[in-house]
Parts: sequence; structure tokens; C-alpha cells
Amino acid sequence: MAESLGFQAVRFCGAKRDSRHGVSGGDPAGRSATKTAAFAAADIRRWRHWVRFKLFILLGSLLVTQSGLAKAQEGVAERGRVLFQRQCGVCHQAAQPRNGLGPTLQGVIGRAAGTVEGFNYSPALKSSGISWTPETLDSFLANPTTTVRGTRMAQRVPDEQQRRDIIKFLAAP
Ligand code: HEC
Repeated sequence: MAESLGFQAVRFCGAKRDSRHGVSGGDPAGRSATKTAAFAAADIRRWRHWVRFKLFILLGSLLVTQSGLAKAQEGVAERGRVLFQRQCGVCHQAAQPRNGLGPTLQGVIGRAAGTVEGFNYSPALKSSGISWTPETLDSFLANPTTTVRGTRMAQRVPDEQQRRDIIKFLAAP
């Protein structure tokens, strides 16, 4: 890109010098110099057009990247739903108050850990004193057995973005 820019600039400067010579000399070459100048003008127009086009593309991609980043940081519920089905769905329900191998995760955010009626929790989780927020869920999912030593929940989600997506989904399954 820089190379072709430089090339255009050189062509443009060369043409301008030619035209000046042509006019001062008044020789028949003057006509071809004018022609060159016309070419140069067309070149500039094309070059300007090209720069504007590039700027447009650059701005556009910046905007897309930014909104992409904002989304990434927030977590995407739809992606979370797919991840949840794959990684958690064998043991947990998120949209129903039914327990399986794991307790229901419906309404888990805002709930105290180990308090779903009728689920046989490990003493470790029951007495953990954790209240489930996006932050506590994040560290729990990153490494459950380190966060709550002795828990029976062993499914790790090492990827930060995947955790965000899953948590976003759990907030509104
Ligand atoms: C193999 C089964 C299994 C899988 C897969 C699994 N869990 Fe669990 N989960 C459990 C069990 C069992 C418990 C209860 C742990 C205890 O009592 O120590 C639990 C507990 C939890 C709790 C605490 C709930 C509460 O009421 O305090 C959360 C939150 C949780 N799991 C989230 C997840 C998420 C998110 C995934 C997917 C990334 C997942 N689990 C995958 C079995 C599983």
C-alpha cells in the first residue's frame, strides 16, 4: 500500500515538473506536457478517491472491531447457550427448576451456593458461603475445585470468553 502510494506521488511530481518546463519553453513538447499535466490531475483525483476509499474502509473496520470487542467483553448469551448445552447440559438444567446430576441453574445468579431444595450437595459447597454473582461464577467455573475445595462439581471452563458467554446465558436462559 505504502509502495503504491509512493509510486503515485513520484509520478505526480514528475508530471508537474514536465509541465512547467513545457510552458516556459513554449516548444511543441508543451502540448504533450499539458497532456501529462492532465494525466497528473486525473492521477491526483484517482489518488484522492483511493485515499478516501481507504479511509472509509479503515473507519468501517474500526467500528466493526470496536463493537465486536464490546460484545466480546460482555459475553454473548446465544454463544453461551450452545456452550452450556455442550459442557453443562448433561448435568444441569438452566431453563427449568429440575435437578439432575447437578442442581438446577435456573435463577442461579443472586442465589446462595448449595441451596437448591432437594439437591444433595457436598458439605464443601453447602458451607462455602458463596453468593453467585457473575464474578463468583467466573472464578468458580475457571477452576471449581480450587475455588471450593471438596466440591463435586469438576467441570472447568478455562477459556475466559467462554465463561463470560455462559454466565451471560445463565443470567437469562
Ligand atoms: C458431570 C456433571 C456436571 C457438569 C458437566 C457440570 N456440573 Fe455444575 N455441578 C455439578 C454438581 C454435582 C454440582 C454440585 C456440586 C457440589 O455439591 O459440590 C454442581 C454445581 C454447580 C454450581 C453451583 C450451584 C449451586 O446451586 O450452588 C454451578 C454454578 C455449576 N455447577 C455450574 C456449571 C456450569 C456452568 C457447567 C458447565 C460449564 C457445569 N456446572 C457442568 C455437576 C456438573
